[in-house]
Amino acid sequence: MLRVGIIGGTGYTGGELLRLLTMHPMAEVTVVTSRGQKGKPVDSVHPGLKNLIDLTFEDVDPAEIAKKCDVAFTAVPHGAAMTIVPGLLKEGLRVIDLSADYRLPVAKFEEVYKKKHADPREAVYGLPELHPEVKDATLVGNPGCYPTGANLACAPLVAKGIVSRIVVDSKSGISGAGQDPTATTHFPFVTQNVRPYNMTTHRHASEIAQEQQRLSPGVKVHFTPHVVPSTRGILSTAHLFVDEPITQAEVQAIYEEFYQDKPFVRLQTPSFANIRGSNFCDIAFEAEQGSDRVVVVSAIDNMVKGASGQAIQNMNLMYGFDERTGLWTSGLFP
Ligand SMILES: NC(=O)c1ccc[n+]([C@@H]2O[C@H](COP(=O)([O-])OP(=O)(O)OC[C@H]3O[C@@H](n4cnc5c(N)ncnc54)[C@H](OP(=O)(O)O)[C@@H]3O)[C@@H](O)[C@H]2O)c1
Repeated sequence: MLRVGIIGGTGYTGGELLRLLTMHPMAEVTVVTSRGQKGKPVDSVHPGLKNLIDLTFEDVDPAEIAKKCDVAFTAVPHGAAMTIVPGLLKEGLRVIDLSADYRLPVAKFEEVYKKKHADPREAVYGLPELHPEVKDATLVGNPGCYPTGANLACAPLVAKGIVSRIVVDSKSGISGAGQDPTATTHFPFVTQNVRPYNMTTHRHASEIAQEQQRLSPGVKVHFTPHVVPSTRGILSTAHLFVDEPITQAEVQAIYEEFYQDKPFVRLQTPSFANIRGSNFCDIAFEAEQGSDRVVVVSAIDNMVKGASGQAIQNMNLMYGFDERTGLWTSGLFP
């Protein structure tokens, strides 16, 4: 049995890791940390896990974690992970970091996050559909939620080298903001409301550009996010401008081939209803007749394929399990 530690177990993604790992036949959570809830039962913070997990929160150093774990997930804010990860790696653990600290090259991270990096080192970008080398990784930078949906939507056409510009417009549920409430995550503000934010400056734009420009250097990338009144889910509409007209049948063939052996990508009309609670990314596309635009839409659950589910998918690949292990479940509908 693979022994798993969760660093930052009181938060939304930490709770989602715990929920998903209760269904994993090859992994067992042995340590869950929290600074503030030390000594309290895990189900006092996550009552949904009552009778499913019998652990208390600990606040222990990496040496103690390494005695009980083989792999650790760091589910803490960016800036905090870079102070925790080096100690875990030094103790011989493999680490999957859910924060932004290891997704970008250090210089790019410092430019985008306006923060000096305390632990410059290489990591594998943990989007397994585009990075099979994740299986050999010691440290994985698990992707951001918006970039996961956007990159999966755009990759097949961009990898053909025929796209000059991408405009991604995303709508996210509010759990993407984490558990700490603010005026703009408060129910009266979020319900019956749709709101754009960071319209041209969202930090995740750099992760989308990084991955798309790796597939096709020079492709221009634009990104605008919105919050919609849903707890979970991200629907991304990507407008891809191609160099020469392309038919619907050609686009269909490109996407079918690209994702033929990728179990978590399904080609069907995306909607929150079909992916909520699951690790699937649903994608649909239309080549606009007589135009240079192809519209590609994706939907993921930000907490699952956009965070904790993808982190477990990475863990599965790193330890030689089928990537679907513990994750092969449908969306929750109705
Ligand atoms: N929510 C999403 O949909 C989503 C998607 C993709 C990626 N992410 C990323 O995943 C990470 C966790 O997100 P989240 O939504 O789960 O956040 P969250 O709900 O705010 O939880 C953060 C957790 O980190 C711990 N923590 C906070 N500051 C810390 C520090 N300085 N040192 C150690 N632990 C600290 C907290 O535990 P204690 O205070 O109890 O110690 C808490 O358990 C973030 O980097 C986020 O950007 C989130």
